[in-house]
Amino acid sequence: MLFLFLHFYLSGKQTLHFMKKMIAPSLLSANFLDLGKEIEMINKSEADWMHLDVMDGVFVPNISFGLPVVHAISKQSEKPLDVHLMIVNPDRYILPFRDAGAHILSVHYEACTHLHRCLQQIREAGMKAGVVLNPHTNVSLLEDVLPYADMVLIMSVNPGFGGQEFIPQTMRKIEKLRLMIDKIAPEVLIEVDGGVNTDNAGTLFSAGADVLVAGNAVFKSANPTATIQALKK
Ligand code: DX5
Ligand code: ZN
Repeated sequence: MLFLFLHFYLSGKQTLHFMKKMIAPSLLSANFLDLGKEIEMINKSEADWMHLDVMDGVFVPNISFGLPVVHAISKQSEKPLDVHLMIVNPDRYILPFRDAGAHILSVHYEACTHLHRCLQQIREAGMKAGVVLNPHTNVSLLEDVLPYADMVLIMSVNPGFGGQEFIPQTMRKIEKLRLMIDKIAPEVLIEVDGGVNTDNAGTLFSAGADVLVAGNAVFKSANPTATIQALKK
């Protein structure tokens, strides 16, 4: 261990980054008629977080669920709630989502005019602050705000719907962001969301992702618990 540390230190690497390899199943693909059972399945699985997609029908062309549902889920979930806000002006809802039980609150770069203040307010409210990038948004735009974030969520599909195909260009974005983060703010996590499955999970972790969101891959599989396990490996 000491040898490894010295090796990285002496080879000029400023920080040691250990991949976290976390999985956050997205409840958007769950059976809403049996949500309690689906949450129990995640509780008992190797999943690390519970990913909740909140959509307002304005920022994205879909409406999912809001505060009362997040609050109900928080009562039963034994995993931290990773809340992905696909809404305009997310700064208006920081405290309500904190009170509904969110642990990690992520806002879109494209939806937040005062991103720096918004991230600070999320932290001040006692949550981890995430910033989300749409597929067209360049990771270099985050350079000045990275120290104020705990996580960057890279969308690998256009947000709004589960079950879409992974956009291959995302791999380059993850690699580029990994280098930036290691240099500027090494503690910041990289999460990837959209079209993640057992075929691309390994490559995504190798490219530098720490957390993978998976909706359809988990909930539409024959054995969701085994799929979560497979995604981690
Ligand atoms: C899409 C959501 C995702 C979605 C992922 O806008 O942000 O979290 O649930 O679903 P899959 O894994 O099926 O692409
Ligand atoms: Zn999401």
